[in-house]
Amino acid sequence: MPDSPAKIEYSEKGKSSKIPIVLAIVVGIAAAVIAAWGVNSNALMAGISAPAPAPVPSVVLAAPANKDEAERLLKAGASVHQERCAGCHAIDAKLVGPSYSEISKRYKNLSEVGFASTHPRNDLAKNDWDGYDDGPHLHLSKEEQRAVAVWILERTKEKEAGND
Ligand code: HEC
Repeated sequence: MPDSPAKIEYSEKGKSSKIPIVLAIVVGIAAAVIAAWGVNSNALMAGISAPAPAPVPSVVLAAPANKDEAERLLKAGASVHQERCAGCHAIDAKLVGPSYSEISKRYKNLSEVGFASTHPRNDLAKNDWDGYDDGPHLHLSKEEQRAVAVWILERTKEKEAGND
């Protein structure tokens, strides 16, 4: 019994002396692979323009802070819709653009709906509205995006909760 701790100590010593060598080899191989891959992908990218950025909302839109603000935004959103969107979008009907019901199946949060409402051109991930032309690039202020997005999400939520 008294000599077993010594044995353990011995065998661990033996192991630990090999670890740095093994590590050095592994790190060396990894570095070589990464270096070769880096050179290759640089060469590949040389003639290709940078890919378009993903459709990340350019601003974060805050949810209404209270009931008064929600009501104010709903009113403002209704008039943004009436003045700038109603020619092409309706709650349920397919017009020149997809219905807001379809749209709110894809975009659930305020910032996404607001940003998508400007019809961004770099929309790689979601720009697959089959059978539709491109929507016009709209310049909407942050508050207009926020108001119309609040209104769209509220109206489509009401529809869903309603009789259909
Ligand atoms: C001249 C017609 C037209 C007008 C005006 C218009 N849209 Fe669109 N909209 C479209 C079409 C067509 C699409 C589908 C193709 C696309 O996404 O560009 C679309 C798509 C969208 C989408 C989804 C975009 C995406 O990237 O998935 C949202 C959200 C939207 N519209 C909101 C709005 C809002 C809000 C307004 C008003 C501020 C508005 N649109 C005004 C035609 C229009």
